[in-house]
Amino acid sequence: MEFDLIVIGSGPGGYHAAIRAAQLGLNVACVEKDAVGGVCLNIGCIPTKALLHVGAEVRNAKHAESFGVTFGEPTIDLAKVEGFKQSVVKRMTSGVGMLFKGNKVTLLTGAARFVDPTTIAVGDEKHSAKKFIVATGSRPVSIPGFELDGERVVDSTGALVIGSAVPKRLLVIGAGAIGLEFADVYQSLGSTVTVVELLEQIAPAADADAAKELRKSLEKRGIDIRTGTKVESQKAGKGGTEVTLTGADSKSQKLVVDRILVAVGRRPNGRDLGLEEIGVEVDERGFVTVTNDHMQTTQPHVYAIGDVARAPLLAHKAMKEGLAAAEHAAGKPTAYDTVVPSVIYTSPELASVGMTEQEAKDAGFDLRVGRFPLSASGRAASLGTDEGLIKVIGDAKTDLLLGCHIVGPSAGELIAEAALAIEMGATLEDIALTQHPHPTLAEGLMEAAEHAHGKAIHIANRRR
Ligand code: NAI
Repeated sequence: MEFDLIVIGSGPGGYHAAIRAAQLGLNVACVEKDAVGGVCLNIGCIPTKALLHVGAEVRNAKHAESFGVTFGEPTIDLAKVEGFKQSVVKRMTSGVGMLFKGNKVTLLTGAARFVDPTTIAVGDEKHSAKKFIVATGSRPVSIPGFELDGERVVDSTGALVIGSAVPKRLLVIGAGAIGLEFADVYQSLGSTVTVVELLEQIAPAADADAAKELRKSLEKRGIDIRTGTKVESQKAGKGGTEVTLTGADSKSQKLVVDRILVAVGRRPNGRDLGLEEIGVEVDERGFVTVTNDHMQTTQPHVYAIGDVARAPLLAHKAMKEGLAAAEHAAGKPTAYDTVVPSVIYTSPELASVGMTEQEAKDAGFDLRVGRFPLSASGRAASLGTDEGLIKVIGDAKTDLLLGCHIVGPSAGELIAEAALAIEMGATLEDIALTQHPHPTLAEGLMEAAEHAHGKAIHIANRRR
């Protein structure tokens, strides 16, 4: 068949692109080889958030004792947890199917491969289009000696299937978003969890203060975190899987666990589509090269968006790139140009937008930094917590907000205000002068901005 636009991949980036292009009057097809919704909806963001919610409920029930409500020891029916997770996935993926129908996007099922610059093969069929958007996402990276077997060694997809019992002892390799979120899930459901991270900081991309604050909370919960530590080898033993590590002190450590989760990053799916054969550049890591913020590749009628195009590998960034590409393909001048918030959905959550303090320093800014610990927040106290931090980083010269980093309950919701502030060119003073409802956690953002100006009320101000 002949289309105006074919989108390859129906993950968050792909389905946003397909729907927007159809809204703009293009005749659109979207090709998907697996389930509609991609990694995010089927085996990524959505099901993990369902499991994290279950874990949080278990912990909340236990925590309630501290303010006088005792539920007793929670019993967890893992089959029901699995059912809940699947029902959430089904609701979201069938929603995408309905949106495709409603917007008259044709869904083509199968793996797409370019046969010439304007034609793809999907199974035995050929389809052509004037323009294409490649949105094929990414897949987990593995490490030698830790090959997946679906039993003892799993990746994030394997870890989503909890089965009939949680492993008694879980080793998580990698303290990025995936590793930390699964550490949270499994620890909440009863596993003893060890997290091993090669670098010195968990969540290495995060602001150092925020990462430290999150680490403190996770360790307080009993998660064993070993940074600066390298996994060397593993073998099945009598009492479990024996793992050899090299610690930060260069000494060898042994650990016996029941399951290993490898969460050391993801790699783009830029190969196996025949892109290079039609003149679209794919780099050595598998990223499709994009040449501008319309998301065009080295063949201007082919766009690439999301994980397959460039970092950061985040669903919401893919969505915005998808919208930009679709609008440009439909003849509009839209370009992708926006800050990218990120959230690690542990308890507490870690959310960030804009520059870390180090990045801002490296970029040559004179900084005005404000910090508000949630231990001083009335709302946090009423939620029974004193853990967390809200940190703002401003440009001392212009007072513009450059970055914001939040650790605490609902940090992922709170960060949207800071993202909007950066997008709108808000200053720290704008944030400080904005009335925030009381009592809320969001007040902490206001007070962090006040703190940056030496005007915080509930905490000591330092002259800066
Ligand atoms: P990641 O790149 O965020 O983290 C991987 C971690 O593993 C890094 O800290 C790295 O230093 C460490 N590492 C690498 N090799 C190692 C080794 N041999 N031993 C010990 N540690 C090692 O990757 P992750 O967590 O797998 O996530 C993949 C992508 O998916 C990321 O880009 C992430 O942003 C995205 N994602 C985002 C989520 C969110 O926003 N909530 C949730 C899940 C994934």
